[in-house]
Parts: sequence; C-alpha cells; structure tokens
Amino acid sequence: MLLNNSLHISHELVGKVVKPGDVVIDATMGNGNDTLFLANLVGADGKVYAFDVQQMALDNTKKRLEDAGVMDRAELILDGHQNIEKYVPSGIKAVMFNLGYLPKGDHSIGTKAETTIEAIEKCLGLLCKEGIVMIVIYYGGDSGFEEKNAVMDYFKALDCRKYSVLVHEFVNQVNCPPIAVCIEKMK
Ligand SMILES: C[S@@+](CC[C@H](N)C(=O)[O-])C[C@H]1O[C@@H](n2cnc3c(N)ncnc32)[C@H](O)[C@@H]1O
Repeated sequence: MLLNNSLHISHELVGKVVKPGDVVIDATMGNGNDTLFLANLVGADGKVYAFDVQQMALDNTKKRLEDAGVMDRAELILDGHQNIEKYVPSGIKAVMFNLGYLPKGDHSIGTKAETTIEAIEKCLGLLCKEGIVMIVIYYGGDSGFEEKNAVMDYFKALDCRKYSVLVHEFVNQVNCPPIAVCIEKMK
C-alpha cells in the first residue's frame, strides 16, 4: 500500500535523512524499536542517545541492542527527555519521539504535554541544519487529547522561516490512528 501507517512513514523519513556516522536521539526509548532502528542507521561510527524515565525500558532496550550486536553505538539514559541538553551535544541529525505510553506497560507513565514541548524545543536547538525531529502522536484512550492538542498548537506556531512542519494524518479512520509529524530545520 502507498499510504502506510504513521510509524512506517516516520521510519521512511528518518531513514532518508540519517547517514552512517550521524548522531541522533530516541527521546522515548520504550522497548527500543526506534533505538535499534536508529543504531542500524548510524552504523559503527555514529551514536544514538536514548531516553526514558522507566528502568524497565532501559533493561529491555539494552538486551535488544546487545542481541543485535549494536550496543556500543548507543547511550541509554534514565532521565526525562526534557533534560536532554545535560547529555547531548549540538549537531544532532534526527530525533524520534513516540508520544503516549507503552501498550503493555504502565499506562500512567505516558508522555505529558508540558515536558514533551520543552523537550522538542530543546531538540530543535540541538539539531543541525536540514536535520529533523519526527514525532508520532498516539492519543485518545488512556492518553486523552490534551497532549495531542497542545503539541499540534505548538507545531503550528513554529516560525516558518526556520522550520518546515509536515503532518501525516489519516482523516477517515476510526479510533484515533496515530499522527506522524516531521519538523525539518531549514538551511
Ligand atoms: C509510546 S512509548 C515509546 C515506544 C518506543 N518508541 C518503542 O519502540 O517501544 C512512550 C515512552 O515514553 C516514556 N516517557 C514518558 N515520559 C517521558 C519523559 N519525560 N522522558 C522520556 N521518556 C518518557 C514512557 O516511559 C514510554 O516508555
């Protein structure tokens, strides 16, 4: 199918931008799907900084990366992404966020509008020119709509001379399908 789901689109766009040797961020590690994806893209000379507030996320991701033989190119950080500037230098090529909670985890430990926007703002500052921040927004259900509405308002207000923002949304599906948003920093 040409119009694939939002997660697939997010990987397609990030896969076009990230090259071997790049430095990137997984802002919401969870079970490490995106961390592993990014570790494979940056190769042995690149680096992935990955964040989560749950020790379980770090344990699961570490095992996953070790099994794939790519743990040496990742740094797993037990801290909120709103503190990203304490750990990550500038010159980042891409950042991935999956908003919401881990489906089989604790639904109360989801991302929150205030800290998510603080983190995205800091990531935009760390990004190199033509770098991207990719956000997949899971909402509805236990996540509600507050975070989705707040981040969408934030994206719409970004300076169009500095950033391009693309929203990929299925408008005729049921049950709040995830929305993919790509922010590109202009030259
Ligand atoms: C939708 S899940 C991420 C799924 C993940 N990308 C994967 O591949 O499994 C969202 C994750 O964000 C984490 N999270 C919540 N608040 C956070 C914060 N302030 N900083 C970093 N991670 C946070 C949750 O613990 C949860 O693991």
